[in-house]
Amino acid sequence: MTLLEGSVGVEDLVLLEPLEQGSLLKNLQQRYEHKEIYTYIGNVLISVNPYQQLPIYGPEFIAKYRDYTFYELQPHIYALANVAYQSLRDRDRDQCILITGESGAGKTEASKLVMSYVAAVCGKGEQVNSVKEQLLQSNPVLEAFGNAKTIRNNNSSRFGKYMDIEFDFKGSPLGGVITNYLLEKSRVVKQLEGERNFHIFYQLLAGAEADLLKDLKLERETRCYVYLNRKVSRVDGMDDASNFKAVQSAMAVIGFSEKEIQQVLEVTALVLKLGNVELADEFQANGVSASGIRDGRGIQEIGEMMGLNSEELEKALCSRTMKTAKENVVTALNVVQAQYARDALAKNIYSRLFNWIVNRINESIKVGTGEKKKVMGVLDIYGFEILEDNSFEQFVINYCNEKLQQVFIEMTLKEEQEEYEREGIPWTKVDYSDNGVICNLIEHNQRGILAMLDEECLRPGVVSDTTFLAKLNHLFSKHTHYESKVTQNAQRQYDHTMGLSSFRICHYAGKVTYNVNGFIDKNNDLLFRDLSQVMWKARHPLLQSLFPEGDPKQASLKRPPTAGAQFKSSVAILMKNLYSKNPNYIRCIKPNEHQQRGQFSSELVAIQTRYLGLLENVRVRRAGYAYRQGYRPFLERYRLLSRSTWPRWNGGDREGVEKVVGELSLSSEELAFGKTKIFIRSPKTLFHLEERRRLRLQQLATLIQKTYRGWRCRTHYRLMRKSQILISAWFRGNMQKKRYGKIKASSLLIQAFVRGWKARKDYRKYFRSGAALTLANFIYKSITRKFLLGLKDNLPSTNILDKTWPAAPYKCFHTANQELRQLFYRWKCKKFRDRLSLKQVENLREKLCASELFKDKKASYPQSVPIPFRGDYIGLQGNPKLQKLKGGAEGPVLVAETVKKVNRGNGKTSSRILLLTKEHVILTDTKKSQAKTVIGLDSVAGVSVTSFKDGLFSLHLNEISSVGSKGDFLLVSEHVIELLTKMYRAVLDATQKQLPVTVTEDFSVRFKESSVAVKVTQGPERGRNGKLSCKKTGSRCLDVTV
Ligand SMILES: Nc1ncnc2c1ncn2[C@@H]1O[C@H](COP(=O)(O)OP(=O)(O)OP(=O)(O)O)[C@@H](O)[C@H]1O
Ligand SMILES: [Mg+2]
Repeated sequence: MTLLEGSVGVEDLVLLEPLEQGSLLKNLQQRYEHKEIYTYIGNVLISVNPYQQLPIYGPEFIAKYRDYTFYELQPHIYALANVAYQSLRDRDRDQCILITGESGAGKTEASKLVMSYVAAVCGKGEQVNSVKEQLLQSNPVLEAFGNAKTIRNNNSSRFGKYMDIEFDFKGSPLGGVITNYLLEKSRVVKQLEGERNFHIFYQLLAGAEADLLKDLKLERETRCYVYLNRKVSRVDGMDDASNFKAVQSAMAVIGFSEKEIQQVLEVTALVLKLGNVELADEFQANGVSASGIRDGRGIQEIGEMMGLNSEELEKALCSRTMKTAKENVVTALNVVQAQYARDALAKNIYSRLFNWIVNRINESIKVGTGEKKKVMGVLDIYGFEILEDNSFEQFVINYCNEKLQQVFIEMTLKEEQEEYEREGIPWTKVDYSDNGVICNLIEHNQRGILAMLDEECLRPGVVSDTTFLAKLNHLFSKHTHYESKVTQNAQRQYDHTMGLSSFRICHYAGKVTYNVNGFIDKNNDLLFRDLSQVMWKARHPLLQSLFPEGDPKQASLKRPPTAGAQFKSSVAILMKNLYSKNPNYIRCIKPNEHQQRGQFSSELVAIQTRYLGLLENVRVRRAGYAYRQGYRPFLERYRLLSRSTWPRWNGGDREGVEKVVGELSLSSEELAFGKTKIFIRSPKTLFHLEERRRLRLQQLATLIQKTYRGWRCRTHYRLMRKSQILISAWFRGNMQKKRYGKIKASSLLIQAFVRGWKARKDYRKYFRSGAALTLANFIYKSITRKFLLGLKDNLPSTNILDKTWPAAPYKCFHTANQELRQLFYRWKCKKFRDRLSLKQVENLREKLCASELFKDKKASYPQSVPIPFRGDYIGLQGNPKLQKLKGGAEGPVLVAETVKKVNRGNGKTSSRILLLTKEHVILTDTKKSQAKTVIGLDSVAGVSVTSFKDGLFSLHLNEISSVGSKGDFLLVSEHVIELLTKMYRAVLDATQKQLPVTVTEDFSVRFKESSVAVKVTQGPERGRNGKLSCKKTGSRCLDVTV
């Protein structure tokens, strides 16, 4: 809050002490002198025209004010614009900015500042920017055509303007609507001393290219034109030429086509040229004065430009057709009347052109009907005017200002006080002047001045401004706000300022004396029908479209509404519009009459502050509350500040509000609870609330963001998961399907192969290709059969020794034949074996053993094979004598034969009987039947035989055996094979040991303690006769020849 801190005077007059007119003026002056042109009364902005460019505008300041609330910075028009815009955007409340003040007080400048601020802070974007541009560019166009230099203001708006800027819900401008009020068209034909016509005429002449001027048939010099005051053609600080360029480009930006711009300029030029049409007296044959056009060339050019026959135009200007019941009567106009007609035409063309331009702009900035809009209205209407000679225009202008003052009173002073009463807030009433009675005086439907004027205009009979004044004098003779010479006289007042043809109204802003001359005419605002008809006939499309009533088909006898009635109704619409919106006031004050910077005329300002009711405004404001709002909207806005009311509140609105403000611990003086509203005394408290809300909103926004982000991520994750599952399901499915497809295809292939194979198998026999095989098989089988059957019939004998076997008839049977031969042979053997008795088996075993021991080792072996082993060669069975030899030996005698024993000492042989039992070898002397030597088989260590055919063998004994001490035996047997075989078997049976049988020609024989080396050689007989000779060749050598 910068209130008071380092400020010049007080920034808000509410804080003024003492509160009186003098201090108020002083405060304003003090601030003005310090170039502080803005001051507040609460939320009302007072602006004093600085008449100089102050460095307090532009983007930098806009940026500053958009970030702060109303009272945080120095008073500024931007702060007010910011409050209005934010309230529109954030609270969804339509706004209106009412800019009031005298002519030259700075209303138009203020409205432009507001617009430029809003344009700078509202949304951006291509579309938005183009709308903004169009809205802003409407100003230079309207100013060119509607503003003029007056004595009070070099750029005085000569029309009222109300502009609705429409926004979307985001606060971006969508477009707008401009309403214009009552252009001061009389200025077209006549200006006061020191004033100018509308800017556009001067701009056109100064700024148009030579070609364009030629096209428009214009001269560059302003003095060539009657309608342009010859004395003042330039305004200081105003560059008409460059302004013309600006207007042209602004029109293009708004959307005027080149053709449209050209036509607008043509019509403007036509107005200028019309002013130069000189009329001269003429007399008709009957002596009645008439008029004619003096300079034929001028009217010719006008006719060409309008696309009209110049004679027709002249006729329309210089005569008038009266319609009676039976016929049309044409009356000639005298010069004065013709001049009047010419000027009326010029004024009408110009004012209609101005309306057309406004409508054309509206067309460009129009917003589609479908969109929901918020509206900010900016009202820049002509200020209160008190001239030396006030006419109808001043009357309606001042009426409008009176109405605006009424709006101000209604909406601030009256409404405010009434509201406190309504809401039951303790309140001391503040007096203020209510101008309702003045408004009534002017606008009352039956008894108002405007109603009287209309009545007079419509009344049949002789009607004049004097009759109108008489009527007013009669009606308002007792009215406190009405004066005239007649009423003054009645009250015996003497006032030399009051003329006979004048009346005076005590407006809220002061007394204004109006000259009644011209009221009737101006109110009628009639253009002779001849003129509108001829204009409608023009081939110039724009001009023609300006006079639709000239169309004979459209012509109606009904009178158009009077200017006063039109104005009254448009003011009524405006008021309704303003009442529906939240008002924001800018009260413009003019500091001096000379448009001088730094001059502060206290008297002038005092008048203005008085009629603007600023002091009353401050009083009401001071006594009251800065802010109020219904419980419900207040609760809706601030309930987020309390935990009890946020997020849900089920109680009543008022209780809710009490809860919220209770928790915020606001001072009780700051608040008042009305019946339906809460009142907040100082803006500071409101800003405190707003700040708290802003911070809380940030928190909540973060919360919402957080929740939303979480939700979004979760949803996204779920979606991804779902998708992933779906994808994998599809993928797996697909994979399985592919696998299944493969398996199926494979099994089908296998099946097909198997079936094919089976089928081929079944049908192979039918195959031509298989026929050869079948045949071959058949042949093969048949020759096999033949071979086998033949074999069966030709089997060789079953004698096992018969090894003959029929040869195979074909080579292919060779292996089979060999196998069969083997089989047959084995079978034969088996048969043979099966036939053998046990004894034979035993014999054969012995034979087998003999074969193992001697086959291919001993030369006598082959001879022994066919001879069966007899065992007993000495007739032991039948000889009991010999039986005794057996002695005590157990079991049967395995071999009994006579052997020769070689004497190891001398080599001589002696016969012995040898008995082999299962356990012993018994050697007895043939002569003595007593056993001589019994050798246990376990004592036999081995035998040695020769490989020759002889029967010599050595029986090696273990040294430890009882007989062993005598040494080994060297014996000769005729059945050496049988004997040794049986001995071998007996030793095996008895001792489970294999008897070592050595086949050798050199062996040693133990003899007592020594041994004798026996060397066997073959004699010529080769041992066949069984004889052998032993020769001792040393003590230890024995040569044996066999
Ligand atoms: N804020 C301002 N800063 C600088 N000059 C200003 C300011 N306001 C007004 N002026 C000056 O005052 C002149 C008159 O202002 P403006 O045209 O706004 O008056 P007005 O109230 O619209 O008058 P009228 O009722 O005649 O149209 C401007 O041309 C400009 O020179
Ligand atoms: Mg203005």
